[in-house]
Amino acid sequence: MEATRARILGIGAYSPEKVLTNHDLEKMVDTSDEWIVERTGISERHIAADDEASSDLATQAGRRAIADAGLTADDIDLLICASVTGDMPFPATACFVQANLGLKNAAAFDIAAGCTGFLYGLNLAQGLIRSGAYKRILLIGGEVLSRTLDWTDRATCVLLGDSAGAVVLGPAAEDEGGILATRIASDGTKAELLYIPGGGSRNPASHQTVDDRLHYFKMNGRETFKHATRNMAAIAKQVLEDSGLGLDDVNLLVPHQANLRIITYIAEQLGVPMEKVYTNVQRYGNTSSASIPLALTEARERGKLKKGDVVLMVAFGTGLTWGATLLRW
Ligand code: ACO
Repeated sequence: MEATRARILGIGAYSPEKVLTNHDLEKMVDTSDEWIVERTGISERHIAADDEASSDLATQAGRRAIADAGLTADDIDLLICASVTGDMPFPATACFVQANLGLKNAAAFDIAAGCTGFLYGLNLAQGLIRSGAYKRILLIGGEVLSRTLDWTDRATCVLLGDSAGAVVLGPAAEDEGGILATRIASDGTKAELLYIPGGGSRNPASHQTVDDRLHYFKMNGRETFKHATRNMAAIAKQVLEDSGLGLDDVNLLVPHQANLRIITYIAEQLGVPMEKVYTNVQRYGNTSSASIPLALTEARERGKLKKGDVVLMVAFGTGLTWGATLLRW
C-alpha cells in the first residue's frame, strides 16, 4: 500500500499595509514604470512597517492558516519557517513565531532555501508526515526583503517585496488527494549569483563591511534568469513524470512569482496556457519564500483553486535552489 500523503488542511497569507508603486520608485532611483513593467511585470509591492520583522508577518499568516484548517494552536506539532530574511542571525525566526502563536506542543526551526524555501518545506513535510513522525505541520514562508535592499541600486530594489504565506499540513485520507510528487534540487557552485555577502561568519559586520555595502542583496540578474528558466521547466516535468500525470491533467500552475517574463517563459516551455497560470507578481513583486503560499491563498479566494484541482508549483532561488510539487487540492 502507498504511504500516507500529506495534504494541505488550511492556508493563509499576510501582506503589510504599505504599498510602494513603480511611480514612487521613479522618485528614488533612475528608473521608470515602463521599464519595470516591461522587464518584470511588477507594478507595486508591499513594504513592512518600521516595527514589523519577518516573524510578525509570518505570525499573521500562520494564525490565518491554523484558523482556516479549523484547528487551534495546541494541535500543531511542528513549525517550519522558510526565510532568508529572519529576524536575527539566531535564534530561528520560527521560535519567535512559536512564541507569538503559543504553539506549545511544536518543535520549531527555519529553513533557508531562498525563493524555493516553501517548496523545500513541502518536500520535508511530506516525508515527515509519511513517516508518521508529525501529524499537524505549520509551514510558513515569510520575508522582509525590503530591509536587505540597496535603495540606490535600481537593478535590484525594484524587484522585491515583503509578505508571508502559510499552510497547515496533515495526513490525507485515501480519497483526499494531497501531495502527489515533490522534488528539490541545488547547485552550490552558483551561490554567488544571488547573495548577501556580509553579516555572516565569512564577513562579519564591521565598519568596513558597511562601507563596502556588503550587507545588501546582490544579484547577477541575467545569469539567474538563465538558470531559473532552464531548471524550473525540467523539474516541473520530472514531478509530472513521477506522478504519472500529464500536463493536460494540470488545472493550475502556480510558479514562484519573481518576474512575469520568467513565468510566461516557463508556461510556454511546459505548454500550459496562461489562463491556467496564477500570477500576482504585478501587485507584490518577488516575495521569495512567501510567494507561492501567497499566490495559492489568493487563487483560492478568487475561485481559481477548487477542491480536486491538480496544482503544479515550481520555484527557483538563491543557492541556487529549485524545486517543484504537484498536488491534488
Ligand atoms: N530601471 C531602468 N533601467 C534599468 C533598471 C531599472 N530598474 N535596472 C537595470 N536597468 C538597465 C541596466 O542598467 C541596463 O542598462 P545598460 O544596457 O545601459 O547597461 C539595462 O537596463 C538592461 O539591464 P539587464 O540587467 O540586462 O536587464 P534584463 O533584461 O536582464 O532584466 C532583470 C533585468 C529583470 C533583473 C532580469 O535579469 C531578471 O528578471 N533576472 C532574474 C531575477 C530574479 O528573478 N531573481 C530572483 C531572485 S530569487 C531569490 O532567492 C530572492
